[in-house]
Amino acid sequence: MTSNLLIHHAEILLSNGDIFLGDLLIKDGKIAEIGTELTADSATIIDATGLTLLPGVIDPQVHFREPGLTHKEDLFTASCACAKGGVTSFLEMPNTIPLTTTQAILDDKLHRASQKCLVNYGFFMGATAENLDDLRNANPACGIKIFMGSNHGALLVSTEAEIEPIFAKGSRLIAVHAEDQARIIERKKLFKDNTNPAIHSVIQDEEAALNATKLAVKLANKYQRRLHILHLSTGIEAEYLRENKTPWISTEVTPQHLLLNTNDYQRIGTLAQMNPPLRSPENNEILWKALLDGVIDCIATDHAPHTLEEKAKPYPHSPSGMPGVETSLPLMLTEYKKGRCTLAQVVTWMCTNPAKLYQIQNKGEIKIGYDADLILVDLNNYQPVLKENLATKCGWSPFEGWNLTGWPIYTIVNGDIVLEKGKLNTNIRGKALTFSQMNIKDS
Ligand code: DOR
Repeated sequence: MTSNLLIHHAEILLSNGDIFLGDLLIKDGKIAEIGTELTADSATIIDATGLTLLPGVIDPQVHFREPGLTHKEDLFTASCACAKGGVTSFLEMPNTIPLTTTQAILDDKLHRASQKCLVNYGFFMGATAENLDDLRNANPACGIKIFMGSNHGALLVSTEAEIEPIFAKGSRLIAVHAEDQARIIERKKLFKDNTNPAIHSVIQDEEAALNATKLAVKLANKYQRRLHILHLSTGIEAEYLRENKTPWISTEVTPQHLLLNTNDYQRIGTLAQMNPPLRSPENNEILWKALLDGVIDCIATDHAPHTLEEKAKPYPHSPSGMPGVETSLPLMLTEYKKGRCTLAQVVTWMCTNPAKLYQIQNKGEIKIGYDADLILVDLNNYQPVLKENLATKCGWSPFEGWNLTGWPIYTIVNGDIVLEKGKLNTNIRGKALTFSQMNIKDS
C-alpha cells in the first residue's frame, strides 16, 4: 500500500449530494478526514485543482473471459480497462470456461483475480439445472446468475420447472438474464436466412424480454426472493416493473441501452449486436425516464468483449456483446453535462446503489471510514473515444469517435493510485469484495 494520500483542492461529491471544495486525507486505505487546509506527515499529495472527486464506480455486470476465453480479454487487461474507466470494483459473470458452477471453480477465479486484478472483484455463481447445492453453499459469491435465455451451454435454465427450485430454496440474491428462450428459438426459424444484423432485435424481440421478466418477478414474489433483473432493455419491461416491482426486486440498465438503438446497426453492424438486443429509439426515452424515476436502480455495462475477427463473421455467426467498462462513466458524465441528469444521480446509479443492492460494505460513497476507492475526473475536458487509447484486449468500442468528458485522471483503489494522468500502475492489486450476511446466508 502507498503511504497516506492527501488530495488537495478537489470538488468533493459528498454522500448527501453536496459539492464541497476542499481536501481529503486517506490513511491505511480508508477515508480518514475531509476538510480544508488538511495536512499530514509523509503523505503523498495530489493537487486536484479543477478536478472532481467521486466514489469509484462499481460495475455489477461484466464478462471478463478468464479462464477459457482469454483471447478476447483476461482479468489483467479487463482490470486495466476498469482502472482507466474509473471502475474500482466489478462483479463478474459465470460464462467463462469452465462455467463457474462449483465452489472449486469459483475459488480458482478468486485466486486468479488476486494475482492479476488492479481493482476489487466479486464473482457470480452460475445456475444450471443440476447444481442447487453448489448454489446454496457458494461463498463468497455476489449472487446466483440465471441465464433464462441466451446460449451458454449448461448455464441455460429456461423453463419454469427448472427455474422455480432455484427461487424456492435459499436466500441469496438471484440475478437473471431475462429473455424467453422458447420464443427466441421459434423466431430464429422464421428469419433463418437473414444475415442483416438488425434482424437480431426482431428475433429476440421485446416480448421475449417481457415474458422472462414477468416469470422472474412472479417467482421472486411467490418466494419473496431477492431478485435483480440484469440489463433491462425495453420500455414495456420498465412500465411493467413500475407497477409490479416489490422491495426485494431491483434492476439495472446499460449505457448502450440508454444511448444506442436499432439505428446503430447501420453505423456499426454486428458491433451493435448484443443480448438483450438494442431496441428502437423510443425505448431509450422510456428507459431514461424509468432511471430518473427510480424504477431502474443502477447502471451496469455488461462488458462482453469479442475480437473484431469474431465480430466480422456474418450474422448470425457473429457473437453478441460489446465492451463497456472504459466508457460507461464518461458516457454518463457527458449526459450529466448535457443536463440530462445531476452529478449526484450518476453517482447514485453507478456507485452508491450497486454497493447497496449487493450489500458491499463501506463502498460507493465518500464518507469517513469508507474504503478509499476514489476517482478524480475532469468534467471540462472533452476527449474522443479512440481505439488506440483502450486497454480492453478486444481493442474496439461501439462509442468510437464519441466526444466525451469526465475521463478519470486519477483512479485510487483501497488508497493506492492505480491510474495517474493516463499511466497505469500495474503493480497494484485489488481485493476480493465481501458481501454482508443478508446476501450470502442461505436458509
Ligand atoms: O451480449 C451479450 N454477451 N449478453 C450477455 O448477457 C452475455 C454476453 C457475452 O458473454 O458475450
